[in-house]
Amino acid sequence: MKLKDIAKLASVSETAVSLVLNDKPTRISQEKQAEIRRIAKENNYRPNLAAKNLASKTTGTIGLIIPDLENPFFSGLAKSVEDELRKHNYLTFIVNSDDSHSNEKELLQLLVNSGVDGMLMTLSNESFLHKEEMVSLLKGLNTPYILVDRTYPNLKCNKVYYNNRLGGYLATKYLIDLGHKNIGFIKSPEQIFNGNNRYLGYLDAMREAEYSIDEQWSVESDFKYDGGYLSSEVLLEQADITAIVCANDLMAFGVMKKAREMRIKIPEDISLIGYDNLSFGEIMDTQLTTVKQDMKALGVEAVRILLSDMSSKGDKIQSELEPELLVKDTVRNL
Ligand code: RIB
Repeated sequence: MKLKDIAKLASVSETAVSLVLNDKPTRISQEKQAEIRRIAKENNYRPNLAAKNLASKTTGTIGLIIPDLENPFFSGLAKSVEDELRKHNYLTFIVNSDDSHSNEKELLQLLVNSGVDGMLMTLSNESFLHKEEMVSLLKGLNTPYILVDRTYPNLKCNKVYYNNRLGGYLATKYLIDLGHKNIGFIKSPEQIFNGNNRYLGYLDAMREAEYSIDEQWSVESDFKYDGGYLSSEVLLEQADITAIVCANDLMAFGVMKKAREMRIKIPEDISLIGYDNLSFGEIMDTQLTTVKQDMKALGVEAVRILLSDMSSKGDKIQSELEPELLVKDTVRNL
């Protein structure tokens, strides 16, 4: 069933059918509109999107590049973005850079070549080591885009991210208020702006309390479960450390595994705080105290800003969201 078939059956023009089925303003009578809709429904009419998009020089598709599909933070973000874009009749191409800068560049080009109408992107770990090249690529884009979660602070573009420095501060301040002084920190790769800001927030809280900070108490890792498992041993061995903050939940889960192997109890022997509030943490007997950055809210805000830019091509929008400390089972009073 094509649009012209409906027009013939309803004895109206194809334009009339298009106006009615696209809910556009029309002078056609309510009765005739109802008849057109009935014929379309009874014949399972589906608009020819290719023809529609050809006319409007769009594809009705949006690209989303995420850096680690195995990390539930990004699968949660991808779900939020896809849900929200579908409400606006967009098809979302979700691709995974695997935290590789070369993959990221290739995927960016593939999406542009496929004619996506817009793009959302969380920068890979490596793109922070190739900033000039990446910024130049992004500045050369004709496709509207937004950086989500991980951004370049000095690049004027559409951005949405959480206040990471506040998140690191909230976690550390909470421990200090419970009497902890010797607090360790497991960092993301230092070049990643958002992860490193969490560490700066830790330093802010420790300095505000005028506590000395031993360099042995912090270690750089990779935002991954195995990274948290391997890097935490050097902190768990230090008997003077009473608490550890991790730059994300996956590394904190790695700490929990290493602590079990070393017969260290959480929180009895050492308190632990993560970052992200991954949903699968809820199935664990000892639920991780963590800093929540709501993936759904992040995705909805990212889509709002991108669609606004695609329609108005106005000033670029930066949106900073507030994290929230969620107190669960892995921290105790000293
Ligand atoms: O867990 C992955 C981390 O990298 C999250 O904290 C998120 O902010 C992303 O940048």
